[in-house]
Amino acid sequence: MSSRTLILAAAVLLPAFTAAAETTDLATLPSPENSITQGWAEARANRSVDGNPLRVGGKTYESGIGTHANAEWPIALGGEATALRGASGVDDEVGEKASVVFIIEGDGKVLWKSPVMKKGDAAQPFAVKLDGVKALRLVVNDGGDGSTEDHGDWLDLKLEHSGKALANYYKEITVETAALAWTFSASQGKLEQRRFGLKSDPDKTRAPGVYAYPDYIDRNADVALLEPTLDVLGADGLRNLALRYDSQEVTKEGGKTRTDIRLKDEVSGMRVVLHFLAHEKEDVIETWCTIVNGSKEAVTLLRFDSFAFSLGGKDLHLTTFRGGWGDEMNWSEAPVSTGLRRIGNQSFTHPTHGYSSSFVVSEGAAQEESGKVVAGSLAWSGNWHLDFQSEYKDAVRVSGGIHPFQPQHLAAGAELVTPRLILTVSGKGKGAASRNLHRWAKHSGMRQVEVTRPVILNSWDGAYFNFDEKRLLAMMDAAVKSGVEMFVLDDGWFGNGENARNSDTAGLGDWQVNREKLPHDIQWLAEQAHERGLKFGLWVEPEMVNPRSELFAKHPDWAVKLPGREQRLGRNQLPLDLSKPEVEEFAYKVVADILDRYPGIEYIKWDNNGHLQDAGSQGAKPAGQMNMTTEMTRAYYRILDRLVAKYPKIIFQDCASGGGRAEYGSLPRHAEFWASDNQNPLKRLQMHWGYSHFFPPMSWGAHIAESFDSGKFPMKFRIDVAMTARLGVELDPSHLKADQLEEMRAGIEVYKRLRPLLHAGEVFRGVSPYAADVCSSAVVAEDKARAVFFAFRTKDHGAAKEGRVKVPGLDAAKRYRVSEAHVGAVRHVQAGSFSGQELMEQGLPLSWSTGPESAVVEIMAE
Ligand code: DGJ
Repeated sequence: MSSRTLILAAAVLLPAFTAAAETTDLATLPSPENSITQGWAEARANRSVDGNPLRVGGKTYESGIGTHANAEWPIALGGEATALRGASGVDDEVGEKASVVFIIEGDGKVLWKSPVMKKGDAAQPFAVKLDGVKALRLVVNDGGDGSTEDHGDWLDLKLEHSGKALANYYKEITVETAALAWTFSASQGKLEQRRFGLKSDPDKTRAPGVYAYPDYIDRNADVALLEPTLDVLGADGLRNLALRYDSQEVTKEGGKTRTDIRLKDEVSGMRVVLHFLAHEKEDVIETWCTIVNGSKEAVTLLRFDSFAFSLGGKDLHLTTFRGGWGDEMNWSEAPVSTGLRRIGNQSFTHPTHGYSSSFVVSEGAAQEESGKVVAGSLAWSGNWHLDFQSEYKDAVRVSGGIHPFQPQHLAAGAELVTPRLILTVSGKGKGAASRNLHRWAKHSGMRQVEVTRPVILNSWDGAYFNFDEKRLLAMMDAAVKSGVEMFVLDDGWFGNGENARNSDTAGLGDWQVNREKLPHDIQWLAEQAHERGLKFGLWVEPEMVNPRSELFAKHPDWAVKLPGREQRLGRNQLPLDLSKPEVEEFAYKVVADILDRYPGIEYIKWDNNGHLQDAGSQGAKPAGQMNMTTEMTRAYYRILDRLVAKYPKIIFQDCASGGGRAEYGSLPRHAEFWASDNQNPLKRLQMHWGYSHFFPPMSWGAHIAESFDSGKFPMKFRIDVAMTARLGVELDPSHLKADQLEEMRAGIEVYKRLRPLLHAGEVFRGVSPYAADVCSSAVVAEDKARAVFFAFRTKDHGAAKEGRVKVPGLDAAKRYRVSEAHVGAVRHVQAGSFSGQELMEQGLPLSWSTGPESAVVEIMAE
């Protein structure tokens, strides 16, 4: 007898099996297209691969699965099945070239194999015993001659089992908001992403095989060599991790839905919970994960990303924002290239100076009000990375979290909660994506949204370290005349004797008032401000120390240091090692004591001006050394969380050498961030353009100044640029000439009148400051009854010019009354009445003299 007849005989002669509790027709299982991988097209239930009724050897079958070689269908049975019966054959829809072999495998062994089957052959029946089989695999191969026309059908597949065999066969989990659907399948342990994108988008389906959270073993994912999102080095030196779906939980809270998907690895004991917090109305999802070491020994996390998702689309573009001190948030857009693109930060304390941790991926070049866009922002104030990896078929895999260059120690039983990614999608351009993020930020991403942001005079650029009480009072007097509402005393008010803070070389850490400069102390100064009708704020930098300080002399081991190495300074200072509980407590007490001692303070500017270059925690054990930087970031959060809980009315500003911490890890603990030390209005227009993609304009400070060549620009231009964010002043107003002070006052008065709308309204960006020499934006009330429109002519062409500039975001059907709100020497806009449609499509007529100039226009529905 040939081996072929033997196998067939064995199949046909099989005795009746043990009685099964349940019989399932496998054609009724969900989603064959996602469960079966095959060489061409998609597997179908009860149809051939071409979509015809199943027909083999001239006979039609009601039930079965139409596939195409080479196909593979894994089914986990968990030892709960007893038999599989059915038949197989080549579908009659194909030509003569078809030749197919059907194989049934159990736990890697061939249980049944058909002969090479051709078109017209009668279906081959089988009845295969499965007792104890855990992994069943149904294979359709090409018979060794290539897969042309190899349409192979599985027919009448009946699985006999205990009732539990298919419990984990296939489940879909969808995390969704009004417009976004992010769907996963949990199929026999594998958690894969099925779809990510707009619900309305027909191309949203992703191919099977894309792991939702690729671990070290599954990083290959059948599509490309992807970086793992979790890579764990065990105590045995192995990276032995394969996460499998365990369970999920969905809870609702107001307009938010939280989905937790639990993964586990039976072999290593590691567990991961993927978290998704969906904000339905805002179309925003916060996503992060908890990594639990469920093994008996400590492990090292080599890579421990917060999230991963795959985005499909044609001609995908990636927009990132790079920069440095005084040069934050420079726009940079390029098509997504093949391979891996990584942006990130390793400076620890200035996470967003080199690169912003916010990004946009768009189909084609990103447009303001059209096109598909995904925008994200990583909420972490330490080292971070974001990876953009090309996948096959026009897709990009986005993943990221804490930067893996500093691996983490995770003790047995311990867990690590990763930072969150704030994510949104839009089918109407990046403008809508920004507005989604702004809406989210106003309830979850920043503090004190309901508090009117005061117009601040910050002393830094006006006085630097060179002040005494007399000078500060003169600044206050002039500030009051210009309509300023709060005086903030910046750096230089503390340290005594040889450690007096008269430059950045000494004093940090010695938080006692400098008795020479301020003999009456801070509370007196606050009262002086109050007497003038000003609020009062103070600058602190509690995370740092100058080696020239009493603090350093007393606690040299509180500063970071690598053993045997010189301590390299940045701006003459060192980071305090907040991974030590006593140092964390010290930094907390610095600010708490100041606020208790000086109850006149209403605002704290929290600064951080040094990079962490040499991460070493003096005296710490290896585990503490490895986790030092993340622990320092968490300590920074804990300190602020305690402070804002104890002093809920104090406004905190997040500053790190300008815009070094412009991200949603810090911002929820503050009311605003300091966007940059550079107040040059041209530079600021570009920065504001960038920031506005992710942050509402009320969340960052922009000051009228003279530094960075700002003084060369007309006062009105500087004021109008500052109005597009939270306006303040950063110069010594007592040095201004009377007409300049008056000009500033008039501008601030306009700002104050428009402020409620500017901070509550929705932002519509118009023309980019990178694109043309007249750039524009509008802030529009939600009901579209009012708007403020900004237009800036950025270059001095030495010639007058007229032209229309489109006003975005209005209601085309409304009629609007238009008037210039902030009038300077030249009138740019003639008051008049326009239809919304005309303003939006043809634009508002503007006349310019020579530039640089600005127009602030009020638009009211009639
Ligand atoms: C950096 C900040 O960005 C400035 O505004 C100022 O506060 C200085 N630090 C003070 O040292």
